[in-house]
This record gives sequence, structure tokens and C-alpha cells, in this order.
Amino acid sequence: MQNNNFSEVFVAQNLVILKEVDSTNTFLKNILSNNEPVPEGTVILAESQTAGRGQQQNKWYSSKGESLAFSLLLKPSFLSLAQQFNLIRIVSLGVYDALLPLVGNSLKIKWPNDIYIGDRKLGGMLIENQVQGSTIKSSVVGIGLNINQNNFPDWVPNPISVKQILHTDYDLKALMFDICNRIGQWYIKLMAGNESQIQDAYLNTLYWLNKPGRFKAQDAIFGGIIKGVSNAGLLLLECNGKTTAYNLKEIEFLNK
Ligand code: BTN
Repeated sequence: MQNNNFSEVFVAQNLVILKEVDSTNTFLKNILSNNEPVPEGTVILAESQTAGRGQQQNKWYSSKGESLAFSLLLKPSFLSLAQQFNLIRIVSLGVYDALLPLVGNSLKIKWPNDIYIGDRKLGGMLIENQVQGSTIKSSVVGIGLNINQNNFPDWVPNPISVKQILHTDYDLKALMFDICNRIGQWYIKLMAGNESQIQDAYLNTLYWLNKPGRFKAQDAIFGGIIKGVSNAGLLLLECNGKTTAYNLKEIEFLNK
């Protein structure tokens, strides 16, 4: 009963739509830092972002009516810091589940939380956690997806949009509701402690899993095979029979 109600929370009952904002993540973090009460499941959706932020201090490209850009507030205080990669897993899976019926199984999650079609990037996530003691007090889950773009500026690395594949426009708000619902379903599984189901589902969608690929680490280029992702969220890469764990800053995927 409680679970069903909880799922409905994610139908963005508290939805704020902004015509223009610098970044939905920054906006939501600012409200939280003012100690204003913000319910879990709140969504900030931007029609346009002027300074969208990506991972590793990158800029994130958003264009009005074409990009889906929103931030969802979670309060996973039941998660210890050591378990935080599970949050990345369930958010990635929610986005994946919503997009799969649209684009089919060329869709993959590229470790840790990029969404890929073939070898191109459809979108990504910027998850910013507020920590209290050893648990996650709140989590601002920013999601950016390329949906209705016909083309991109040159500076955007390796992009693809849903429209470039299907040649049709999608309703951004409807897709946002679907994604939130599906994240909600995975979130309930996480709360119920179904970690191994979550880990298996994440691995099943993983880009380059068990396939030979080229990587760069510490200025060396080498061939390796992704064997999995550790509980702490490190990429497990096998090279010459030896498996090494890498964090995001240590390893780069190179095109085949
Ligand atoms: C990445 O792949 O580098 C992460 C991209 C995350 C972009 C989204 S768009 C909505 C939210 N607001 C931001 O400023 N960033 C995230």
C-alpha cells in the first residue's frame, strides 16, 4: 500500500516548470540550501537552460523544445554512503526503461550513467548528493536527454537525439513523467533491499560489457574488456588477464 502511494509521488505531483533557468540542478540545490521544505519527488523542469551542467565540470547543451532537462529530488536517507552507487544504477535504469520502447535495444547505459544509442550519447545524469553523517540526506538527480534535435553545435561531443533516429518529435513533459515513474519503481526496489536485482539489471544494459574495447588510462592506450562494476561503482576492466578497478577520472573510453 505504502509502495503504491510512493510510486505516485514520482508522478511529479510537485512539478515546477521554468521557462528559463541557468541549471535545474543549481535551482533545486539553492532552494534546499535555503532550508525551504521541499517534498521528495519534486521535479524542476526547464524549457530552457542557459548554463546546464554536466559531469566533470563539463557544460551541458540544452535547446528549447528539443532537450529534456529536469531535476528530481530524492531523499534516500536509508542509503549509506557506501551504497550510493545504487542510486546511480536505479536512476540510469529508470531512464533506460522509459527510452527502450522508443529506440529499441541499441540503447545502452555507458558506465557510470550515460545513455547511449550505438556509439553516440543520447544523454546523461548529474547526481549531486547532500550527505549527513554517513547517509545521503537528499539527492538532486539532474537528467538531460537529447530528444527533438535535428542537429547539434560542433562543441557537443558525440551526440545523438531520438529524432535523428525516429524522425518524429516527442512530448518532453510526457517523457519526463514516464521517466519519473520508472525511477520510482526502481527506487521502491532499492528501498526494499533488492540490490542484487538492481545490480543485475544495470549490468545487463551496460555498454561494451564483455566486449573488447580500447581505453586510455594514465596516458597509455590499451585494449581491455569490461567485466563488471564494483559495489563502490568502479569500472572493472580486464587487460592481459588482470582486472583493475577504475574511477571516472582515471579511465577514458576510446572509439573502436
Ligand atoms: C552529463 O552527461 O555530463 C550529465 C548531464 C546532465 C544534464 C542535466 S540537464 C538537467 C540538470 N541540470 C543541469 O545543469 N544538469 C542536469
